[in-house]
Amino acid sequence: MAAKNQQNLHIAVLPWLAFGHIIPYLELSKHIAQKGHRISFISTPRNIDRLPKLPPHLSSSIALVKIPLPRIAELPENAEATMDIHAGQMGLLKKAFDALEPGLTRFLEDSRPDWIIYDFAAHWVPPVAVRLGISRAFFFIINAWFLGFFGATDTLISGSDYRTKPEDFMVPPKWVKFETKVAFRRFEAEWSDGASKSNESGFSDYYRIGKVIAGCEAILIRHCNEFEPEWLTLLEELHHRPVIPLGLMPPKVQDHSTNNDANHTVWTGIKNWLNRQNKGSVVYVALGSEVTPSQDQVVELAHGLELSGVPFFWVLRKVSASESKPVELPNGFEERVSGRGMVWRSWAPQVEILKHASVGGFLSHCGWSSIVEGLMYGNPLITLPFLVDQGLNSRVIVEKQLGVEIPRNEQDGTYTRKWVADSVKLVMVGEEGRKFQERAQEMSLVFGDEELHRRYIDTAIQFLQNHTMP
Ligand SMILES: *[C@@H]1O[C@H](CO)[C@@H](O)[C@H](O)[C@H]1NC(C)=O
Ligand SMILES: *[C@@H]1O[C@H](CO)[C@@H](O)[C@H](O)[C@H]1NC(C)=O
Ligand SMILES: *[C@@H]1O[C@H](CO)[C@@H](O)[C@H](O)[C@H]1NC(C)=O
Repeated sequence: MAAKNQQNLHIAVLPWLAFGHIIPYLELSKHIAQKGHRISFISTPRNIDRLPKLPPHLSSSIALVKIPLPRIAELPENAEATMDIHAGQMGLLKKAFDALEPGLTRFLEDSRPDWIIYDFAAHWVPPVAVRLGISRAFFFIINAWFLGFFGATDTLISGSDYRTKPEDFMVPPKWVKFETKVAFRRFEAEWSDGASKSNESGFSDYYRIGKVIAGCEAILIRHCNEFEPEWLTLLEELHHRPVIPLGLMPPKVQDHSTNNDANHTVWTGIKNWLNRQNKGSVVYVALGSEVTPSQDQVVELAHGLELSGVPFFWVLRKVSASESKPVELPNGFEERVSGRGMVWRSWAPQVEILKHASVGGFLSHCGWSSIVEGLMYGNPLITLPFLVDQGLNSRVIVEKQLGVEIPRNEQDGTYTRKWVADSVKLVMVGEEGRKFQERAQEMSLVFGDEELHRRYIDTAIQFLQNHTMP
């Protein structure tokens, strides 16, 4: 074997300031460290302090590097991640992130890693890394159809996209030559339109993504050849550089069943409740940590679940860190559904719940991680997408008949309790429901194949080794 293959690399890792990004970056870091390489995991002090504990055997190979986030006057004090702000402050957080450049440059000058793996917002990283002779990879935590929807590198950077109004995002882009239903709906398209325009930070998301791609030697992406592979090929055509699938990165199940686990009591309570339900009968309802449904949306969802008659376990988070007003359920709701419906208002072990035999479906916002977690245990989806990539993910799930999307008013995105109830019943009961569950079970052979997805990451690490600058 060539000497280079035995060389231990030092890799710097810089995720965007959102835990939905930080956690997959940390997972990738753990895999790389496991192979004997050294990681410098970079974020701001408060984010580093909020990371889950590293496994003891890896803690000496993963250095946690704190670079203070420069103060931006309009941003709340101590706001260092998207969970600390409301949607309107996103541009400011990006502006603060951009101000990390001098701090990061000093770190790179001092420690000279072999590679830096960076996120979509870090458009200023590649020039610094090139100057210092550091190799560069862009890790996109979402799938290839979402990145493919943005278009080619130059178009992203110059902003000369032919799509100028929301309607343009409601059909598949012209560079997609294969059959697909991947496109935004009217009430989602405004977001995509917004992402192509610059805001408080001075740069659009399109520009940022164009720049991080133009400056990288490889795109690492949470995707695999066993599910929608044509999008990977499309990305190579659009960007003219290697696109390395990392597999779907299915999470490891935490074992909360031992007495010394901090969350043992929580899990025991939930498990006992699930054990009392029939096999495959419960719909697990969770809209992720970044989605903040309005009071009306929560009320319709509640009535819909009640109307469906289907057993449910609903993880209902408080509104958001900055809007401290808790959402309210309809009067008497919890008493009326008692026994068959559980509303859970604090942290819950999602992956363990989805693995439980009583759970037979997942009503989800359709974030990519949630889809992976649902399908790895064969749960078909009832989709209720809100933001960013979620709508496109939902189109793929529906196209593959792995679930149904809750209908919505095309203009304003509102939905009714009846639409919720009908969708839940379609996936959870009867002959039709059985077919959804069968297809999802079949898909779990791909999504839940740990060995397959571990091999993808191993190959990606080999790529980094083979392509390190001498
Ligand atoms: C900034 O971009 C976001 C999407 O990333 C968009 O929702 C928002 O409206 C934009 N703000 C301004 C002031 O353009
Ligand atoms: C235990 O519960 C807390 C919330 O109470 C959560 O943040 C943490 O991630 C959980 N720990 C594990 C190992 O799952
Ligand atoms: C890396 O190089 C080794 C040895 O030349 C080769 O066997 C392997 O296929 C390469 N892997 C990747 C992903 O480039």
